[in-house]
Amino acid sequence: MPQAAMAEGLTTGRAPFVEEARHRGELYIQQNYDLYSPENHEAWRKLYRRIRPRWERYANDHFLRGIEALHLPMDRVPRLTDVNRRLQPLTGFQAKPVSGYVPGFLFFDCLHRREFPTTITIRPADRMDYLPEPDIFHDVAGHVPMHTERAFADILVRFGDCAHTAVEMTRDVRDPQERARRLRNIIKAMSRFFWFTVEFGLMRGARGICAYGSGLLSSYGELEHAIESDEVQRYPIQMEWVINQGAEIDHYQPLLFMVDSFDHLFELVDRLERWMREGKLNNVAPGLPDVNDSDLKSFLEAETH
Ligand SMILES: [Fe+2]
Repeated sequence: MPQAAMAEGLTTGRAPFVEEARHRGELYIQQNYDLYSPENHEAWRKLYRRIRPRWERYANDHFLRGIEALHLPMDRVPRLTDVNRRLQPLTGFQAKPVSGYVPGFLFFDCLHRREFPTTITIRPADRMDYLPEPDIFHDVAGHVPMHTERAFADILVRFGDCAHTAVEMTRDVRDPQERARRLRNIIKAMSRFFWFTVEFGLMRGARGICAYGSGLLSSYGELEHAIESDEVQRYPIQMEWVINQGAEIDHYQPLLFMVDSFDHLFELVDRLERWMREGKLNNVAPGLPDVNDSDLKSFLEAETH
């Protein structure tokens, strides 16, 4: 291994091992564990120690059980092979290391196959609180514990089904511009639904309101803010609202939606697919998130079965 690559470690934005793979067009990579620097392990340790008491207070019970089931280490970056050895027998899910952004269809298709695209880099130790892109703390400490829960894992697989349905629903549209327009709307609706549930969802339960969204569960500041702050609007989830609501990025979410259970969420994903088939996602409100060209292309070129 070149000395330069060793010295940089696997820090977000400055990891030659990952950037070179991306330049070679390799999306799926290995977690080259020996590359993590002492600073990388220290960043994990700090993030984990700091957030742990907040999980106990604000995280849903399934997440807390997932943390225990996975035996996530407190003092070093986890090895994905260790995580997967414990995760796979529970729900069939696997964390799959990637070099960066995974275009829409490929991302949902991974979920369909019970694979979760997982970032291997970790944020720099001096930027604990905010990072615009996901890192391994967000993906493995925020998302993967939820994948130990059968009902939640099945919800992710249903999201994957929806992406296949989107391709099938638009395949026969003759006019290429109209096909692209419909797909952009459907992808936007799916992304918003994913954002307000899997990333930022709240649940009403016996202990009051708790978080199951991974964007909240991996953010020390926002986890408390989402549940305690008077500045946040929290509403029972409504499909017609969620698919038309622009997502806000770069700051704490001012609006969050609550589900009653994972059965409730599963029913909603079913309804999302039904609405897609009925054409109700072909014209959603403009606004974030943007659907970029690689997302659109991934759907246009998708192989479905
Ligand atoms: Fe995420």
